[in-house]
Amino acid sequence: MMKFQGSDILSVSQFDRESVSRILQVAQAMIPYANRQKRCYVLEGAILNNLFFEPSTRTRISFGTAFQLLGGFVHETVGQESSSLSKGESLFDTAKVISGYSDVITMRHPEMHSVSDFAKGSTVPVINGGDGANEHPTQALLDLFTIRAEMSRFGKGIDNLNIVLMGDLKHGRTVHSLSRLLSLYKNVHVTLLAPQPLQMPQYIVDVLTDAGHQVTITDTMAGNLKSDVVYQTRIQQERFSTLAEADKYRGHFSLNKTVYQQFCQDHTVIMHPLPRDSRPEANELDVDLNDNTNLAIFRQAQNGVLVRMALFALTLGVDEKLTQFEKPVTWFTNK
Ligand code: CP
Repeated sequence: MMKFQGSDILSVSQFDRESVSRILQVAQAMIPYANRQKRCYVLEGAILNNLFFEPSTRTRISFGTAFQLLGGFVHETVGQESSSLSKGESLFDTAKVISGYSDVITMRHPEMHSVSDFAKGSTVPVINGGDGANEHPTQALLDLFTIRAEMSRFGKGIDNLNIVLMGDLKHGRTVHSLSRLLSLYKNVHVTLLAPQPLQMPQYIVDVLTDAGHQVTITDTMAGNLKSDVVYQTRIQQERFSTLAEADKYRGHFSLNKTVYQQFCQDHTVIMHPLPRDSRPEANELDVDLNDNTNLAIFRQAQNGVLVRMALFALTLGVDEKLTQFEKPVTWFTNK
C-alpha cells in the first residue's frame, strides 16, 4: 500500500488495489460526519488552499465542504485572472509561495500535467482536481466508490463488472482515470461507445487490455448497453479547437427513457460525472430519467465529499484519529 501521509495525489497510477481499498474504507467512515449525525474537528486549525483555474461546481465546492466537515479552514482562488499567474508568474513560484500559507492544496488547471508541475514547487501535499484532458483522480475514486455502493444493491462487486463508457472518451479525463482504476480489478468487460474520432486514446485501451479485461470498441448503442453500469460523459467542448467542431458530435448518444427501456437491463445503473449538458441540441442524459431509481448521478456527486474527506484525512495523517475528535451536531438537520 502507498504511503499516504505527506503525499501528493496527482494520478490514479499511484494506487495499487490495496491503496484504493483503504481510501474507500476511510470514505465510508466519513458518512456520519457528511450526514451530520456527528461532527468531526480533527483538522481544526488546518488550512486548505483551493485553487481553481478552470470552471468547476462539484469538485471545487466538495473539496471545500470536505475540508470544512473535518474542521479545517478553506481559502479559495478562482480563475487565473485573479492570480499573479496572469502576470507571468510560474506554477513553481506560485506553489513555493502558497504552500507556505497552507497545510494542503487542491488545484484544477486547464493544461495537462500542470498540477504535477505545481506540486514540484509545493512543500505540502497537492491534490489534483483535474489537469486538462489528462486526469481527474478524485473523480475516478468517487466513481469507484459509487460503483461499489450501487453494485452492492445487486449482490455484485467491481470484479466481473460489465460497464459502458460513453460519449467523448478522447477528451474526458474522468474516463481516463476511471479506466486506469478499473485495471486494478478482475475480469471487467468495458464497452467504449463513442464516435470514432472521439474514441478512447489507444494508451488507455492498452491499460485495460493489459489488465486482461475484455474491451469492446463501438459507435453503436443498439446491442451494446446491456451492462451493469452505463457511464455517460459530456462532449468536452472546451478541449476542441472550435465550437463548430464540438457541435458535430452533440446529441449523437442521448440516453433517455426510451433508449434505456429498449437497450439497457432493468438494473443498469446510470452514472455521469456531471455537469450534464441539458441544452436541447446535446441532451446527453435526459431529465426523463430523473425518476429512475438506477440514476445514480446525484448520489455519485454526494460521494465526492466522502472521498475527498478521506484523501484529506489520509494525506494529513489523521485517518486513525477521527473518532477522538467528535462532537454532537447541535442544529436542525434533515439529512
Ligand atoms: N465532475 C466534475 O468535475 O464536475 P465539476 O467540473 O463541476 O467540478
